[in-house]
Amino acid sequence: MRTQSLDRFCAWIEQTSLSQAIQVTSWSVPAVQTVHILAIAAIMASVLFLNLRLLGVVGRDRPLSEVSARLRPIIWWTLPVLLVSGTFLIVGEPVRSLENPIFQLKMFLLVTVIIVTLSYQAPLNRDSNFWDATSGRRGAIKAIAVLSLVLWVGIVCAGRWIAYV
Ligand code: HEM
Repeated sequence: MRTQSLDRFCAWIEQTSLSQAIQVTSWSVPAVQTVHILAIAAIMASVLFLNLRLLGVVGRDRPLSEVSARLRPIIWWTLPVLLVSGTFLIVGEPVRSLENPIFQLKMFLLVTVIIVTLSYQAPLNRDSNFWDATSGRRGAIKAIAVLSLVLWVGIVCAGRWIAYV
């Protein structure tokens, strides 16, 4: 999606002193991309393990509430790192991302996966047995886990794809 106001917003970002500093500091973008990629590795490892536990494929000897309590902080603390590093990359080259439909898709997928993640973590925080085998909700939690994995993989693909659109 491209609008005149988005064009004007990108033009305004491009002439800020921060954007100009990024544009003339050749090492800054690869350095921040490295931070972004390390954060992706941390979040994807946690998300993969947690969702495989929701599916009952790994870690069945540990209660779901315990696995979730261990991995949840990694997921929620890594998101601000991705937000800050991603915003830095946008400020350096705003048109490349903000006007790119794949970037917009990535942001849509990200908001969706945050809502999906909260939808299973919030009841689990209130009741540690909420998704247990005896709860009659195994089908629902497995569907949520598959949806969550598809969305996270979609975000990674979209992130990489931005460069080619
Ligand atoms: C939280 C907000 C986020 C923002 C604002 C953001 C923004 C960006 C930007 C601007 C780029 C550079 C794209 C380019 O110019 O080629 C990028 C790259 C990328 N992002 Fe994000 N991102 C965010 C979160 C995420 C998340 C959660 C993931 C996946 C778990 C992710 C995965 C990627 C990948 C795989 C790349 C390509 C890295 C590369 O090949 O250099 N991003 N992101």
